[in-house]
Amino acid sequence: MKKMPQFYEDLAEMANSIILLMSPTGVIQYINKYGSEFFGLERDALVGANIIGTIVPETDSSGRKLSRLMKDVCKDPDRHIRNVNENILKSGERVFISWTNKGLADNDGKIYQVLSVGNDITMEKQLEKELTAARDELEIRVKARTLELNQVYEELKSLIHRLAMAEEAQKKRISREIHDQIGQNLSTIGLNFNLLQSVMSEESIVSTKKIINDSIFLLKDTTAKVRNILAELRLPVLDDYGLLAALRWYSHQFTEKTGIQLVVRGNDPHPRPEAHIESTLFLIAREALTNVARHARATVVEIDVHLKDNILFLAVMDNGIGYKRSKSRRKAGQDGMGLLSMSERSTLIGGSCKITSHPGKGTHILVEVPL
Ligand SMILES: Nc1ncnc2c1ncn2[C@@H]1O[C@H](COP(=O)(O)OP(=O)(O)OP(=O)(O)O)[C@@H](O)[C@H]1O
Ligand SMILES: [Mg+2]
Repeated sequence: MKKMPQFYEDLAEMANSIILLMSPTGVIQYINKYGSEFFGLERDALVGANIIGTIVPETDSSGRKLSRLMKDVCKDPDRHIRNVNENILKSGERVFISWTNKGLADNDGKIYQVLSVGNDITMEKQLEKELTAARDELEIRVKARTLELNQVYEELKSLIHRLAMAEEAQKKRISREIHDQIGQNLSTIGLNFNLLQSVMSEESIVSTKKIINDSIFLLKDTTAKVRNILAELRLPVLDDYGLLAALRWYSHQFTEKTGIQLVVRGNDPHPRPEAHIESTLFLIAREALTNVARHARATVVEIDVHLKDNILFLAVMDNGIGYKRSKSRRKAGQDGMGLLSMSERSTLIGGSCKITSHPGKGTHILVEVPL
């Protein structure tokens, strides 16, 4: 072995890394002070010994054959400039060392010695292992949590569905009762007033005329109010003929009131969606139309209803002034309840609502509900 120049030997002795010189067959020719102390072995015991069986175990903890790896490193160090492998201390403790290797060649290019510098990275490896374990654990927990959340979401969806059905049934029952009981009574009272007028003498009619007229007026007003309440509770046309018919029926009132032309197009979905879906879609369309009347300055609105690939589409499109949608606008509270309620109602029936609007280009509301 060539003797190392003094300067380099001093440098190697002062280093806080393992510095090792070995033959191409793995026989240790030099190890610095730090190295021998690190492995807990006297330099005399190391120099002249092979790295395998002294500082490198035959196989590592995962079963990898280190003797083969070391042979490769010693034979062709330039192909193994960096490698991390398990090493062993005198106490038997396994450590991880990050090695840098360099082959020292003679004038013919033949490698006569291998120079290796190693640093202990056991702590980093341990941390890495713990980090991986923690990440795996976290992933498992996230998966479990996601599963739980999905279950809760499904339960919630089914609850909302049952609630909506119950609400529909309740509305139906209340409107039937109002119709059958109060409606009947109101008609009877009306008939009674007419009868009263026909049997009363001229004089008594004169003296009670104002009271009777006031009562008849109140009666008509009450009847109209009851009809409005009934219409809010249940639309008979929606019940009997479905969404498109109800929208067409509403379109007449809308055009009459606003002067805006309303075109209702599409096909009735078959089979008919559940009652709460139909009434929710009707309410969304009505909300959108209220916005058109209030803000759009439109001349024409189109409503389109159709079923495609089991998805029910409801579109409300106007040719009005449109508006600029922005977060700041929403934050500033410029968006009212209408747009929000359309989105929320869509979600409650398991669908979604997309609102597109550009100044000067009208507003387009698209609700999609998987059936
Ligand atoms: N079809 C439309 N054309 C033009 N602007 C619209 C249209 N729809 C909504 N907007 C704009 O979006 C804003 C928010 O609408 P949204 O329905 O949420 O609230 P609103 O109609 O102002 O009040 P609310 O509906 O709560 O009574 C409106 O104030 C209006 O500026
Ligand atoms: Mg509105």
